[in-house]
Amino acid sequence: MSKKIGILTGGGDCPGLNAVIRAVVKGGIKKGWKLLGFRYGWKGLIAGEFMELDDQTVSGIVHRGGTILGTSRTNPYKNPGDAEKVKNTIKKEGIDVIAAIGGEDTLGAAAKLSKEGIRIVGAPKTIDNDLSCTDFTFGFDTAVNIAMECIDRLHTTAESHNRVMVVEIMGRHAGWITTYAGLAGGADVVLIPEQPISLNHVCEVIQRRHEKGKLFSIVAVAEGAKFEGKDMVLEGKLDQFGHVRLGGLGQLLGEMIEKKTGYETRVTVLGHIQRGGSPTAFDRVLGTRFGIGMIKLIEEGKFGCMVSLQGNEIVPARLEEASGKLKLVPQEFIELCEYFE
Ligand code: F6P
Repeated sequence: MSKKIGILTGGGDCPGLNAVIRAVVKGGIKKGWKLLGFRYGWKGLIAGEFMELDDQTVSGIVHRGGTILGTSRTNPYKNPGDAEKVKNTIKKEGIDVIAAIGGEDTLGAAAKLSKEGIRIVGAPKTIDNDLSCTDFTFGFDTAVNIAMECIDRLHTTAESHNRVMVVEIMGRHAGWITTYAGLAGGADVVLIPEQPISLNHVCEVIQRRHEKGKLFSIVAVAEGAKFEGKDMVLEGKLDQFGHVRLGGLGQLLGEMIEKKTGYETRVTVLGHIQRGGSPTAFDRVLGTRFGIGMIKLIEEGKFGCMVSLQGNEIVPARLEEASGKLKLVPQEFIELCEYFE
């Protein structure tokens, strides 16, 4: 039976989004379905702003970063009446199923709409890899590879100048990118939100290296990490969706290390470089599998579910469960990093 599918991408952009969109569109066309792309996440459904998606629109985008649909952090449950507007657009445009591609916030809204009777399927997106019920989200591998390459580059300059290099990496609540990039790049200290930072310990590691003749060190720190007994370091501003903006931890930590050890310390904040540009082969393939996986969920009537990667299988997971709890870095990885201090 012919169907009309509405696709949206919400939250922070992420390499691999276009691979998912392309797969849903190409897969849907094969089934004889009609595909609409809503602009800027839930905002497009609230405002009724969309574009028709066909073979042409999604041709040549698998390698492109960002999202051809645009994205925003709009949540239809934030402002009264917006969820109703979403439902009205779905009704007015005769949409059978919404395919929501997003992280915790976007999929959390999808879970609520699903409970209220809207047919929705999802795909887990975030460079942070902190969504539950999936081994990996797409975008994470690309961000890790970018951060790893930056650590490699910092390594050679750190060594040439006998400097401590602090590199601040994205990761608000979970330190997945910092952990993987730190391990792959050979960082000497890895600091993540899951484990409070002890300045004494960090400085001891650096001093021990100096005593052994290693006159440089790399400290990889996730932006959301906290000092023992302290809160996250904030920029003091909110974004337009009311989310607190993190910022300044790397700088603060760098100054503290320099003061305590006396070693020259420089700070690099990777920021949005980690989210931009083309996806790795892994993320292109995972995104493609997720997109076709969503087509299968729709065919099988598995609404209220997202596609997930478990082992090497694409399997359904309940949206409510996936968006209800963050997936944090387990102790095993924290201990793994400590072996290399
Ligand atoms: O959720 C992904 C993420 O990149 C986080 O790691 C980071 O804290 C946040 O988005 C940054 O958001 P924005 O793009 O709104 O500055």
